[in-house]
Amino acid sequence: MLKGKTVIIGVTGSIAAYKAADLASRLVKEHAEVHVIMTRNATKFIHPITFETLTKQKCLTDTFDRNFQFEVEHVELAKKADLMIVAPASANILAKMAHGIADDMLSTTLLACTTCPVLVSPAMNTRMYEHPATQENLKILASRGVKIIEPASGRLACGDEGKGKLPDPSYLVQRILLEIACEKDLAGRKILVTAGPTREALDPVRYITNHSSGKMGYAIAAAAALRGAEVTLVSGPVAIEPPVGVKLIPITSAGDLFRAVTSCSDEQDIIIKAAAVADYRPASVSDEKMHKADGDLSIALERTEDTLQYLGDHKKEGQLLCGFAMETSGLEERALKKLKKKNLDMICANNVKVEGAGFGTDTNVVTMITADGMEQLPLLSKHEVAMRILDRLKAM
Ligand code: CTP
Repeated sequence: MLKGKTVIIGVTGSIAAYKAADLASRLVKEHAEVHVIMTRNATKFIHPITFETLTKQKCLTDTFDRNFQFEVEHVELAKKADLMIVAPASANILAKMAHGIADDMLSTTLLACTTCPVLVSPAMNTRMYEHPATQENLKILASRGVKIIEPASGRLACGDEGKGKLPDPSYLVQRILLEIACEKDLAGRKILVTAGPTREALDPVRYITNHSSGKMGYAIAAAAALRGAEVTLVSGPVAIEPPVGVKLIPITSAGDLFRAVTSCSDEQDIIIKAAAVADYRPASVSDEKMHKADGDLSIALERTEDTLQYLGDHKKEGQLLCGFAMETSGLEERALKKLKKKNLDMICANNVKVEGAGFGTDTNVVTMITADGMEQLPLLSKHEVAMRILDRLKAM
């Protein structure tokens, strides 16, 4: 996702410096050209050779080193960068950045970094982080457009508990991808995505649900966020992490989903309903656990709210509505019927019986159906399917 992009990682003197090696490695795996600049103190925690081996680039530590690729290294590198991140960022580098101090390779490069996004990921003891001096410096940096990545909380190296940990490198990568991975062609658009299954309670112990993993909806939400959209994700209970950069609204039942979606549907430009919503729920929910008895048991079910039907009936001017249809037979005819009945602009149909499609997989085989016709996509990763769905909706 970062092919052709140049990322500079600034590493400062914090015990979390070792995590920067993982960050560098992950960025290289995304095909970024990665340059690492270390402060002198950082080299006490991790050796530059670690970064040189991972990035295949000289790790810069000294402004006056003459063995460089460029004429005036700190300026040239800053000009070439698509993004610069300081991770971990010590209280000291934050203070230097806030006040324009440039006395080593890292701080001079940061001062020359005026055209690309700059991210800082503070990592230090809670007391140092919460000190008014550090907080003031962070405010100054934020007011200049520097993106501050909030530290995680937990047990710190000094034994204290509190805020100040460097977040997991996978999270830092997600934040970087959000900045530079894709063209921001959906910037300014509000997109609501629903994902995952619903659970309809029978009693305090049992519920009715389905096999949805949420992967397709999560891939759409993630892709829309990467393309710059303001994304709200209404999700049933799933076992996957929500994408970074989306607003998550967790729900349990079809009724919750209806209320969550309709409370913010009016303001959305695009609504994509990938959730596998229960069509029926138990007509009555027992307050106490139901105990078995001799003989069979029948459970009376009642219809749930059909959120997509409601949205189609109350569609706003210019709003696009995309549904999903999962079938086991008669895919296209049934999907087309749903498109018309629910007043949709597009429906994405997939057959659960087709190899590589269906529940829990990382791939899908989808037919995009609109009033103008059908487009059958080949077997693709759910990320690629998400991108194609968004391309199509954008064109509409
Ligand atoms: N949907 C919804 N609310 C429901 C049920 C479904 O919003 N109570 C949405 C799903 O998120 C999906 C689409 O409607 O986008 C699925 O259409 P639907 O007609 O409900 O399909 P099935 O549940 O498969 O039902 P059918 O038995 O009619 O095939």
